Formats: sequence, structure tokens, C-alpha cells
Amino acid sequence: MGTNPFVYGVEVFGENFVDREQELKELRQELLSGKSVLMLTPRRIGKSSLIAEFSRRLGEKAILVHIKLYEVDSETALAERIVETVLAAAYGRIERAIKSATKFLSSLRPSFTTTPDGLKVSIAREITPPEMAEALELPEMVAKEKRKRVIIAFDEFQEILHFNGLKLEKLMKAKFERHAHASYIFAGSKRRLLLEMFSREDRPLFRFAKPMELGRIPLKEFKRFIIEKFHKAGGSIREEIAGKILDYTEGHPYFTQQLCHEIWNLNKNVRDASIIEEAIDRIIAHHSAEYEQIWDLLRGRGQRNLLRGMSLEPDANIFSARFIERYGMRSASHVKKAYDALEKKGIVERIPPDKMGKIGDIFFAEWIRRLSRR
Ligand SMILES: Nc1ncnc2c1ncn2[C@@H]1O[C@H](COP(=O)(O)OP(=O)(O)O)[C@@H](O)[C@H]1O
Ligand SMILES: [Mg+2]
Repeated sequence: MGTNPFVYGVEVFGENFVDREQELKELRQELLSGKSVLMLTPRRIGKSSLIAEFSRRLGEKAILVHIKLYEVDSETALAERIVETVLAAAYGRIERAIKSATKFLSSLRPSFTTTPDGLKVSIAREITPPEMAEALELPEMVAKEKRKRVIIAFDEFQEILHFNGLKLEKLMKAKFERHAHASYIFAGSKRRLLLEMFSREDRPLFRFAKPMELGRIPLKEFKRFIIEKFHKAGGSIREEIAGKILDYTEGHPYFTQQLCHEIWNLNKNVRDASIIEEAIDRIIAHHSAEYEQIWDLLRGRGQRNLLRGMSLEPDANIFSARFIERYGMRSASHVKKAYDALEKKGIVERIPPDKMGKIGDIFFAEWIRRLSRR
């Protein structure tokens, strides 16, 4: 029995990673030439995976550290994380790391311990602004010393707003714009927050990074991936059925992997397309309590009606008179208000190149469709 070859909910890279060749090339070009990149897309589109795969392919060409801001809850913890990941990635031996820390972090003076997971850095008090500046300077210093570019990927970057955000943005800008040997990826899923940080003139990081779009995965490549995964793991699937899976998921990376994962669990030799429906039923059954809760928490008829309409006609113009009339909305501005509220809650998401948002979770959309048919 082979283990299930479809993985979702974690970063994927290497043999679990499909396509994104264009994006990988763009990242390489921009970052290796010293530019910084902003990756702003809904969650589950594959930002973290793209960073992981990019890092893998860089190999020895540069030093990449991946900092997940949701694992960090204060400015001090962020400094610890930067220092520990940069030093660990740059120096094989702990003595070298400590030597470099002594040189570059003369006021910060963190303490070091080694754990089975590697180097652990701690700062036993609340960090001061000059010390934070020193930590933010470290990537450039190390890059110069090692004669190798350092790339810092801040994942879910908007999380810095939870701790001293604006001051930190200012400090980062002041430091990063002078860095010739370090470059930065700012990735995140909270569209509004990130847009405010990078596209408002009064914010320090205004236009600091080059925006990069990340959409669904091209169907042809994804189809080849699905068929290959089935075969390599000792199963099989007819090409036409792989195509039907992708018709349903539209090549959304997370939901495609999730659906394939469920199908594999049902039957690893897929001959009949009816298994797709069966797998969808299972996924929905699994999530129905959560969907019910989301639904119950929606206030007012407007948002629910709009979701009903969007689930039944995902490509319709929601502002058209026909749509408004058919789904019991009051006016275009009523639609706009409900749409904005749903987007803010992360229920509706816009994935490029789409012009308008859709219900982000395709199985939630299915659940709503079924509700409407009852
Ligand atoms: N390039 C890819 N190839 C195959 N699957 C992918 C790819 N990118 C993302 N996925 C799938 O989507 C899931 C979510 O990806 P992730 O990188 O965590 O997204 P994000 O960081 O944008 O929330 C992964 O667990 C994986 O199942
Ligand atoms: Mg992520």
C-alpha cells in the first residue's frame, strides 16, 4: 500500500510541487538583482510553498531564510528569529555563528543555545529600537561577509501590525533600502492590510517591493502531475477523470490536492468519474459543522443572499439588475456593502486574473448550493 501522494495544508516543494516556472524565474531575477518582492494573494494559493521551492532551487546560490510572522508574537521574538535563522543558514558551525554575532550585534548581545532543532537565540528583555536596528542590519552584514546574497522571506508579513507595526515599518524601510546584498520577500494573505502598507503614500514601505501575482495552476501541468502522482504511488487514473477533477477545482492548488487526496482514499485505481462526487460529499460532510457556523454568524439577509447567488452563478455580474432581482438584493450599493463585508471576513477572495472575487472555499460554495436546492 502506497501512502497517499496528495498533500495539502502544509508547504509543498520538490516532487509535491507543480509548475510555477514563470513565478520562480521572476523571483530569481528580481531577488538576485537586489529587488524586493510583494506576494499578496488569498491564503491557500501557494505562497509559502513557492517560497520553499524557490529556496530549494536556489541551492548554494544564495542564503534564504523563511520567517513566519504568525509564529512570532513580539518585536523581541522577531529579532530573535531573524538572528537565529540568518546565522544558522549562513554558518555551519556554531562557533562561527557566535563570532559573527559578537561582531555584528555588539549592543544586542543575544545568548545562544543549541537544541536538537539547531541554533536557538534568546534576548532576555524587551528589545530597544537601536538593538532592533542592529538585528535588521544583520542580513546585509552577513551577506557581505559571506559574499553571498541573503534573502529574507517574511511570510504573513501583515502580522507585524500586532506589535509596534508602524514603527517597525519605518525602521525596516530605513534599513532595507540601503541593503545592496540582502533582498526581501513580503508575502501575505490579508489583502487590505498589505495593500495599505505598500500602496499608500503615507506609509513607510510605499512601493518598496515589486508586486507579484500568484493565481491558479495551469490545467495542463496540473493534469500531468495528478496522473503521474497516481501512477508513481501505485495507483491509476484515467486522463479524462483527472480533467474532470480540474474542471471542478479550476486548478486551485489546495482544493485540487484536497480532492485528489480524498479520491485516493476512496479508490486508488480510478475508473469511474462518479468517485469525484463521492469525494466531494465526504469533504463537505467533514466540514459541515464549520460551514454551518460560518453561515449562522452572517448577519442579515444581504450577505447570505449574495453568497447564494455567487455559489449558483460564480461568473455572473453581481451588480447587474438581473442578479440583484433574482437573489433578493436591494440595490447595487447593497451588493457592494455585502460583498465588502464578505471579503473582509475572508469568505470571498479574488484570485488573479479574475476581476471579481468568488467564494474562496469551493466546498463551502458547494455546501451553499446544496442548501439553496433544499
Ligand atoms: N505549486 C504547487 N503544486 C502543488 N500543490 C500546491 C502548490 N502550491 C500550493 N499547493 C497546495 O496548496 C496548499 C496550500 O499551499 P500554501 O503554500 O500553504 O499556500 P499559502 O501559503 O498561500 O496559504 C499546499 O498544502 C498544497 O496542497
Ligand atoms: Mg502560507
